[in-house]
Amino acid sequence: MRIAVIPGDGIGREVIGAARDALDAVSATHGFKLSYTEFDWGCERYTREGAMMPADGLDVLRDFDSILLGAVGWPGVPDHVSLWGLLIPIRRTSRQYVNLRPIRTFTGVETPVREAEFDFVVVRENVEGEYSEAGGRLNRGFPDELAIQEAIFTRAGVTRIVGHAFALAALRRGYLTSATKSNGIVQTLPFWDEIVAERAEHHPGVRWDAEHIDAPAAKFVLQPGRFDVVVGSNLFGDILSDLAAAVAGSIGIAPSANLDPTREFPSMFEPVHGSAPDIAGTGVANPVGAVWSAALMLEHLGRPDAAAAVLAAIETTLAQPSTRTPDLGGTASIREVTEALVRSAS
Ligand code: NAI
Ligand code: MG
Repeated sequence: MRIAVIPGDGIGREVIGAARDALDAVSATHGFKLSYTEFDWGCERYTREGAMMPADGLDVLRDFDSILLGAVGWPGVPDHVSLWGLLIPIRRTSRQYVNLRPIRTFTGVETPVREAEFDFVVVRENVEGEYSEAGGRLNRGFPDELAIQEAIFTRAGVTRIVGHAFALAALRRGYLTSATKSNGIVQTLPFWDEIVAERAEHHPGVRWDAEHIDAPAAKFVLQPGRFDVVVGSNLFGDILSDLAAAVAGSIGIAPSANLDPTREFPSMFEPVHGSAPDIAGTGVANPVGAVWSAALMLEHLGRPDAAAAVLAAIETTLAQPSTRTPDLGGTASIREVTEALVRSAS
């Protein structure tokens, strides 16, 4: 299986090293081989050559089975340049319309909330919605300056993401929450709600609720245990999944998968966190988000056995106070955590 590796910037490079070590350990014990091709795309390349990736970068990626990405973004390069110069084009041209963000509690990871245990998945629409280029700015610099940005919701786009979420809920505990805001956003989100209700008819075994996004935002903190699968638009899913990561104890452990469920294009796996310039180079980045993302990649590549072994290694490692990084209240370095993960997965 051929993996394109884009470590990116800052701690992206550090945590991708850990993910590769974990993958090497588990592929050796499970009898398969991964080959990696590393790309130096990111902000350093942008500063040097004026582009985050080469002009044919998106074509190059097509030949791979999966993409493993660290993080992109660095002070000096505007964040919208780094995001729209690499990550968003990959998601869109590879038709990765599902952004899957599982989150759960682990023994040894303290959460800031009352509820002791939860385990849910945020399914974020990943290629349309509020993150669109449709719009413009007028009268720049004058008092009547204005900006317009259009949200794009298509029947095809909403149907496939909501269908994916219902199917996932059917495989899990059979409960779906649709994050909406159709009381205030009166065009796109009533349309979203209608399609959710339509899709529900195809999944009679799944219980579901539509809730205005402010309600799940509060309940993620107060009663996270009540959720199983939560589906939301691009913007809602983005914010809810970061909130979910924080509620689970640290953004450093949260993984994500950008999936093309049709498998026509490679899917991309990356931790939820960014390049963390504040801790880059200090050796304390938590590698668990990247390693868990690698486990999601193994699952997608048809190796659920190996994925389960990686997750078990994460559980074992987090349960030990001596192998927790500072974001989890520990003192371990990324190297110590990685060594523990590799030992446990071997
Ligand atoms: P960030 O996720 O990089 O950092 C937020 C806070 O969490 C920081 O205090 C950081 O030290 C901490 N943190 C993040 N990951 C950690 C880890 N693995 N272990 C321990 N602590 C961790 O988000 P921020 O600061 O908003 O953005 C920094 C840069 O990253 C920006 O350029 C931003 O655009 C980019 N970014 C890129 C993303 C991506 O590539 N998918 C996602 C989010 C941000
Ligand atoms: Mg985010």
